[in-house]
Amino acid sequence: MSADNTGPARRLRSRDWFDNPDRMDMTALYLERFMNYGVTPEELRSGKPIIGIAQSGSDLSPCNRIHVELAKRTRDGIRDAGGIPIEFPVHPIFENCRRPTAALDRNLLYLGLVELLNGYPLDGVVLTTGCDKTTPSQIMAASTVDIPAIVLSGGPMLDGWHEGELVGSGTVIWRSRRKLAAGEIDEDEFLDRATSSAPSAGHCNSMGTASTMNAVAEALGLSLTGCAAIPAPYRERGQMAYRTGRRIVEMVHEDLRPSKILTLDAFLNAIATVSACGGSSNAQPHIQAMAAHAGVDLPLSAWHEHGWRLPLLLNMQPAGKYLGERFHRAGGVPAVMWELLQAGKLKADCLTCTGRTMGENVAGRESADREMIRPYADPLMHDAGFMVLSGNLFDFAIMKTSVIGEEFRTRYLSRPGAEGVFEARAVVFDGSDDYHHRINDPALNVDEDCILVIRGAGVIGWPGSAEVVNMQPPDAMIRRGVSWLPTLGDGRQSGTSDSPSVLNATPESAAGGGLAWLRDGDVIRVDLNRARCDALVDEGEIARRLAEEPAPPVPASNTPWEELYREKTGQLGQGGVMEFALKYRGTAQKGLPR
Ligand code: FES
Ligand code: MG
Repeated sequence: MSADNTGPARRLRSRDWFDNPDRMDMTALYLERFMNYGVTPEELRSGKPIIGIAQSGSDLSPCNRIHVELAKRTRDGIRDAGGIPIEFPVHPIFENCRRPTAALDRNLLYLGLVELLNGYPLDGVVLTTGCDKTTPSQIMAASTVDIPAIVLSGGPMLDGWHEGELVGSGTVIWRSRRKLAAGEIDEDEFLDRATSSAPSAGHCNSMGTASTMNAVAEALGLSLTGCAAIPAPYRERGQMAYRTGRRIVEMVHEDLRPSKILTLDAFLNAIATVSACGGSSNAQPHIQAMAAHAGVDLPLSAWHEHGWRLPLLLNMQPAGKYLGERFHRAGGVPAVMWELLQAGKLKADCLTCTGRTMGENVAGRESADREMIRPYADPLMHDAGFMVLSGNLFDFAIMKTSVIGEEFRTRYLSRPGAEGVFEARAVVFDGSDDYHHRINDPALNVDEDCILVIRGAGVIGWPGSAEVVNMQPPDAMIRRGVSWLPTLGDGRQSGTSDSPSVLNATPESAAGGGLAWLRDGDVIRVDLNRARCDALVDEGEIARRLAEEPAPPVPASNTPWEELYREKTGQLGQGGVMEFALKYRGTAQKGLPR
């Protein structure tokens, strides 16, 4: 690489398109349309890196729409560092609005972006992230193609306020739903609270899946230090876009690709960071999927071994009190990682996109706001990571322990002589429509000794896997002051939910998992000391039900992609990846497309 970063010693892949002496006819064809908007043939043939800006913002993706503006600053940075920016759209994803679920789109965006990065003259790419699945999908694609890639988060919205109270996206909905059910607020008040939680451009401002996955990108070493937490409207966000644009040009000259950054240790750092932040349970399938596409063998036990015993350090909703602005002011992700580093819980040697190690990136980043980012020795909660459970109903499920509140602990987990163990009677729902239609039916006899179970909500059953496991008790119980019942399901739950649930059960009922034979009234025993969850039903009875009783219904596919997705996608425990795609890795390193 030359000192001014303009004349690489290595021939960049884009030159095969724009400077190919053997195929001048093709070179001319490739060049002519790019000149339409002002790029000159001399520039494109000069050997300057061509940098893609994978644009995830659009009117259909409001959480990422800030990137339409930020791209101007990113382009400036790319230009100033001697690169040529080329911006293009990726498949839009909007978590809240997409039916039947945005989970279908993670693998769809992935497929589309692989084709774009592999098939066009791009030497490096800026991945613009925000809303939940826009982060993992793009990182998965960057691994498959393996050209230099850097993540630019769009940043969370400003903090939401309602009548002097902080209201965080998502979290306020789940909490207000219970108030609505209890008759404490009316529908107007409910809408008021929900909408005041979204005061500006940006993604969800609590530590839901969006903030979690952007923190994960930073913890993996894929975005510049401090990038994830800067609120979308802050001036630092535009500056970060500019620096990210500059840096990706250098990364191309350094040939710093995802395969050099995404090691097992990088993923363990991501798990540790999610745990200390009280991050979303959706981090589990997404991290698993990113690791799979990076060719990293990340055992499911890593969640238990590298996360479960970590304390909760970040005081942000839903596990804590505050929102994104204060997180940023308190030092953001580097300040949380600094705590982990001091405690010996961070792999400091991981190479990152800055060209330095993670240990170097977070050096000196201690937070001054100890109410927001607690010292490792004085956390908000001990043992606050994800607990990995198994048993006769599933091989794998997780429980986000940072949101198990006092009420729940006292009622279910603190019986003398049986701490951490409870037994409850199953009330089983086939999908969320069934739950909504029947939950208030007095004939169900739901009481404090019940566990609400939902099936048909996984990858194949839904399809796509739905955020529906955070079911609330019947309205009558909420009015009596019972805000939580244990829940269990083969779907996911929103990262903004503070429900203590057993989630992501793998295999799901539609794939032959044990939830398929579970019946109303079966007793389920959850033992958090042994990380077990079993239905107390004997083998003979299970065999009889499987042989004699019909399997739960699975709705038909409604679109071609739903059908293909169901055929190709694996279970949540393994990340819900299209397993056939995993063998394609480093496509851009293996040769140029013909
Ligand atoms: Fe898009 Fe939360 S719905 S970030
Ligand atoms: Mg969500």
